[in-house]
Amino acid sequence: MKNIFDAPFLKEFCATTKNMYRLGWDERNGGNISVMLDEKEVGEYLDLNHVIRTIPTGFDAKPLIGKLFMVTGTGKYFKNVKHDPETNLGIIRIAADGTTAELLWGYKDGGKFTSELPAHLMSHMARLSVDPQNRIVMHCHPTYTLAMNYVHELDEKKFTHTLWEMCTECIVVFPDGIGVLPWMLCGTNEIGEATAAKMKEFRLVVWGMHGIYGVGKDLDETFGLIETVEKAAQIYMLTAHLPRINTIKDDELQTLAEAFGVNYRKDFLNL
Ligand code: 13P
Ligand code: ZN
Repeated sequence: MKNIFDAPFLKEFCATTKNMYRLGWDERNGGNISVMLDEKEVGEYLDLNHVIRTIPTGFDAKPLIGKLFMVTGTGKYFKNVKHDPETNLGIIRIAADGTTAELLWGYKDGGKFTSELPAHLMSHMARLSVDPQNRIVMHCHPTYTLAMNYVHELDEKKFTHTLWEMCTECIVVFPDGIGVLPWMLCGTNEIGEATAAKMKEFRLVVWGMHGIYGVGKDLDETFGLIETVEKAAQIYMLTAHLPRINTIKDDELQTLAEAFGVNYRKDFLNL
């Protein structure tokens, strides 16, 4: 059996949490990540027949039965993941009943997966139904994106449009736009269901006055999505109170999207 601390999927997870913390997206225990792992690959590092303990999830995730996920622990600090992944992370498998998680590794101090597991697993199910390549769900509290929530209308079209105007790359990186949910109680099945419903249409979902969710096929792609939104939100927050002299016009956004051949939300432009 190979040493799991050498596993590329663990190293990449640790590097990602380190970067997210460095950028100020994950204060204290803020944020959580789940990565769907390849069973064969994990089998090189762990005995998949050895279940350390079982933990009820409180919701039905039948389409994910037998799937393995690496998930951040609830109450755990991104700051600490790299130094002690076995305490701050866990590898779970969705058991045959669809409502129990089998712990295969991690949560060494007796902990458990993030309180946002409903939003994560329900988003995995929603994304896999429209994109079979999806592996990642990432949640965090990026500073400027959050600041923008307080001074900008929480309307999907308007929020997306403003961000598209802030950097030339935005409409190319997230042509499908950003879904927006109003403030809701976090950690519940209800916010999980609302997030998953948006995820059928969007790869980015803002939780009003809380943070953002991003999804993708790998950690780099998902990180890059949120990073691009956050950069655009930063430009917005640096300029929102100043007279606007220049902007990228809607016909220019259309030209960009067409030049890059992306399938963009035409109804989010005012042409
Ligand atoms: P957890 O510590 O349970 O992951 O919660 C952090 C968070 O960001 C809640 O939305
Ligand atoms: Zn949060």
